[in-house]
Amino acid sequence: SAAEKDGHDWFMRKEILEQPRAVADSLLGRRTPSGSLHLDEMRLDDDELREVTKIIIIAAGTSFYAGMVAKYAIEHWCRISVEVELASEFRYRDPILDNSTLVVAISQSGETADTLQAIRHARSQRSKVLAICNTNGSTIPRESDAVIYTHAGPEIGVASTKGYLTQLVACYLLALYLAQVKGTMYGDEVDGVMTQLEAMPEAVAQTLETAPQVYELAREYADRRAFLFLGRHAGYPVALEGALKLKELAYLHAEGFAAGELKHGPIALVEEGLPIWCIVPPRGRDFLHDKMRSGIMEVRARGARTIALVEEGDDSVDSVSDSIIRLPRVPVLLQPLVAVVPLQLFACQLATELGLDVDQPRNLAKSVTVE
Ligand code: G6P
Repeated sequence: SAAEKDGHDWFMRKEILEQPRAVADSLLGRRTPSGSLHLDEMRLDDDELREVTKIIIIAAGTSFYAGMVAKYAIEHWCRISVEVELASEFRYRDPILDNSTLVVAISQSGETADTLQAIRHARSQRSKVLAICNTNGSTIPRESDAVIYTHAGPEIGVASTKGYLTQLVACYLLALYLAQVKGTMYGDEVDGVMTQLEAMPEAVAQTLETAPQVYELAREYADRRAFLFLGRHAGYPVALEGALKLKELAYLHAEGFAAGELKHGPIALVEEGLPIWCIVPPRGRDFLHDKMRSGIMEVRARGARTIALVEEGDDSVDSVSDSIIRLPRVPVLLQPLVAVVPLQLFACQLATELGLDVDQPRNLAKSVTVE
């Protein structure tokens, strides 16, 4: 009913708007009075964590794209190698696992069959399994050695939104925790990132204010049959997630690419009028930023309509963009938390314009409990 949706047309729209709260709730109570980070569902002791030499993240769908962001954060902050693998592929390639491998399973529902089978396999090979999950007492956390629960609250829309943002938060917390245990970051550095994370609910709320502008774009592009999404670094998985949202909800051909790969193939797809979302990294990372800018120039020179997601105060891509959506200024590793929001709003609105069922897209299920 409309009441359950707080007066919104779709649960998805309600859930997108709930994200500042979901992020805040997922951060709550993680700092001890002494200032160090504390994850209370962690049933692996610090000695076991110090032994970890490799992390393999397994997940499906949107959760997989959260895992891709986690790789950038964990490798940078903890100096541990991270592989990110689709749960459905993991078991069948005879992965190399032992007791110094930590497997991290990310699942909103905690019931995805592919992910569950993957962690069963990992444990049979003596690897420890940590679950990041939004559903208390579901099968995946019950069968894991440790759990970080996200606090998104129930997610009803089939396409994940607040589930994804809170998974990102849990991944950052795990990364910081490992950095603290392994000593790859000083206490005050961990503290500094926690403070940046604690500013994210406000940043997400500020990003939600782009909704009218994004909805206008959805109306403008409602007749298109194909979209591209370009990103680099932590913005690359965001491009993939933006494309997934359009596939799921609007049944469109939508692809995300790492902007550096353009010249290796995707640029051949560009033709007059093709809309391309471009996720521009913060200027702090100049080498990334400038390369992204030249990518935008290249696709625009070939007729693409470029829609740039770019931090406020950065007007360097204005002249090569048909539309600009301003993001709050945040560190590059945390940018996915804000950059994905306009893409969620866009997919939700585009599907609405097309008269489709946003909460129950055809052929999809909220939780896929068969392999
Ligand atoms: C299904 C849903 C997706 C979700 C994926 C993984 O495909 O439609 O929205 O991302 O499963 O679900 P999980 O519950 O394991 O995160």
